Amino acid sequence: MKTPKLVTTLAALREELVAVRRTGQKIGFVPTMGALHEGHLSLVRAAKTECEFVVVSIYVNPKQFGPDEDFSKYPRTLDADCELLAGCGADLVFAPADKEMYRPGHATSVDVGAIAQRWEGASRPGHFRGVATVVLKLLNMVRPDAAYFGLKDAQQMLVVHRMAHDLDLPTAIRPCPTVREPDGLAMSSRNRYLSPTGRKQALVLWRSLQKARQLVEQGESDAAAIVRQMRTVIETAETAKIDYVALVDPETLESVEKVVGPTVALLAVKIENTRLIDNCMLMPK
Ligand code: PAF
Repeated sequence: MKTPKLVTTLAALREELVAVRRTGQKIGFVPTMGALHEGHLSLVRAAKTECEFVVVSIYVNPKQFGPDEDFSKYPRTLDADCELLAGCGADLVFAPADKEMYRPGHATSVDVGAIAQRWEGASRPGHFRGVATVVLKLLNMVRPDAAYFGLKDAQQMLVVHRMAHDLDLPTAIRPCPTVREPDGLAMSSRNRYLSPTGRKQALVLWRSLQKARQLVEQGESDAAAIVRQMRTVIETAETAKIDYVALVDPETLESVEKVVGPTVALLAVKIENTRLIDNCMLMPK
């Protein structure tokens, strides 16, 4: 098993990458906040199929957390993360400290516009400004040929895609499928906050998405009716608190009234005190 090299400074990262670029290898990049699971590893494997050299960043970005969110308790498991990355194709891990990422006087941020304002953006003001800013910084630091993002964070994917397009970034943005536990729960670093009971209750997210799929397959096209039934499924979990359940256009993320073309079912639900998100594509016949 090949253990990826760990660097923690921008200078060391650049030095490594200058040497890689000289050999003409394609560079793939997987940005993460650590607490890695199979979902992240699938991104690394996807990167490795297209790129000879794969960089993974591990950085819990304070700018994408709201004041009442879980920044301080977010799991930091660098040693375990590096062990997981060994053997799945990562060549270099970049784990910068806060002072390396945001140097004194840092003042610039990236606003991506309407796509970043709704759903997660509305519930977590400033979240996507933080995400876009750190992703742009990381892309400038690594200068990869391609960067890989999981579709569980569907809105994040669109925000990053919009930014990359609008700002003419040379990196290709690659969406990768959501990885699920055998029972359907989408893998997330936050799943580890759940108690065994919460873990069982969290299945209502996946069940409600399946309900939406089933209704669409049966010919239901009324979005309000589908959302109502999805909410009913979620409400069977004792601790569930729905933030939003929506059926949206896959490009604009605006709510649809009728499911007549490809549509994304999008949801955010608190189970116990853990906020989980998930989504799936609905394809009416
Ligand atoms: O998806 C994540 O883990 C984070 O939002 C990202 C893209 C690494 C930016 O901090």
